[in-house]
Amino acid sequence: MGRVKPLRCPKCGSEPASKTIFSCASCERILEVNVEVARLTRAEFQTMRESRDHSIWRWFEFFPVEDRGSIVSLGEGSTPLIHAARLGERLHIPNLYLKNDTVLPTGSLKDRSNSVGLSVAKELGFTTATVMSTGNAAASVAAYSAAAGLKSVVLVPKGTAPSKIIQARAYGATVIVVDGDFDYEVAKLYKAAIQEFGWYDCLSSNPYRDEGKKSYAYEFVDQLDGRIPDWVIHPTAGGTGIYAMWKGFKEFLSLGWIERTPKLVAAQSEAAAPIVAAFEKGLADIEPVVARETVAESIQVGNPVSLGWRALAALRESGGTAVALSDEEILEAQFLTGSLAGIFAEPAAATSIAAARKLRERGVIGRDDLVVCNLTGHGLKQPEAIRFSEKEFAPIAPTLEALREQIRCA
Ligand SMILES: Cc1ncc(COP(=O)(O)O)c(C=O)c1O
Ligand SMILES: [Zn+2]
Repeated sequence: MGRVKPLRCPKCGSEPASKTIFSCASCERILEVNVEVARLTRAEFQTMRESRDHSIWRWFEFFPVEDRGSIVSLGEGSTPLIHAARLGERLHIPNLYLKNDTVLPTGSLKDRSNSVGLSVAKELGFTTATVMSTGNAAASVAAYSAAAGLKSVVLVPKGTAPSKIIQARAYGATVIVVDGDFDYEVAKLYKAAIQEFGWYDCLSSNPYRDEGKKSYAYEFVDQLDGRIPDWVIHPTAGGTGIYAMWKGFKEFLSLGWIERTPKLVAAQSEAAAPIVAAFEKGLADIEPVVARETVAESIQVGNPVSLGWRALAALRESGGTAVALSDEEILEAQFLTGSLAGIFAEPAAATSIAAARKLRERGVIGRDDLVVCNLTGHGLKQPEAIRFSEKEFAPIAPTLEALREQIRCA
């Protein structure tokens, strides 16, 4: 048997025979990928670091793909990890680093997941991939399906703004608008469609695609040249990022490639903060909430059913925490990130900055701590979140005098 072992239930240990069964028949938990990495040596680590391939696939040995020929890549990974001196100064965190995932191929962190997910889809012989989404996941699944040569079908709820789904269309997805509520009716149809048509599921209920965000951990170790962050803050919805980063760090730790791990922080919007609530109450599992409207649209998830409980465990094991932010705090963080660090992040992504600020104010983060904030989606994904007055863009006469007046008022 090769390095990719059968999927296994993390709760009861059962191992279904088929590679296409994603959840446990007895306890319903999402199964977990097991890739044998124990034989990897430090020399191999060095070879991976020095690879000319700067995509996540330089870490091929850690992903559940048997054959390199199956890889579906758009060059995702090795996104800049920037020392944000000016923003850090404002937040009183001189060692603040920003992981700029806004520059990923489709503009969000979902590309880390879908590169792995669609590579496995290709290996397993699927011909159609599907996802239900109102934004980032739809675009990413569509793009990677296009690259893989699979059809993609995206289910969105009625009322979704065309700007949210137009990117998926551009990559050739079939977009189906469903007259129903997202969390329940669309979700029910989505499940039924997968059963009926045998499509490849690209949600966090797919254990293969959930491995993709392990690449964050590998990249931090590489880019910080062995220094380990004290804190890594991740905008959190389904919990995949927290779960996967923790798994990635633990793999490196078990191989002796790092000596310690960072504390992980889940940043959520107050309007959809089931992970924060469960963390604060000391629960082992999530209590679903009805997500309210929030400017952080991409992380508006009330029931992170697949990986919420794993994320909770990761937060605790790492010694980290979870923080909820108001829309006002998020928009302020978005503005500071743009104007002091030169990165235009979507509001959901800026929750990591708002959380860093809050934890620093509370004294949880110390002045000298090395803090990494993941910026997980591009601001142009949701330009309407930026507030401006009509007056700001009202045309002026083409004279220096009018220009002087306008500058004075600005
Ligand atoms: C912009 C953005 N940030 C963060 C996330 C967080 O997802 P997760 O908690 O599954 O890593 C998502 C996806 O839902 C997203 O679209
Ligand atoms: Zn089980």
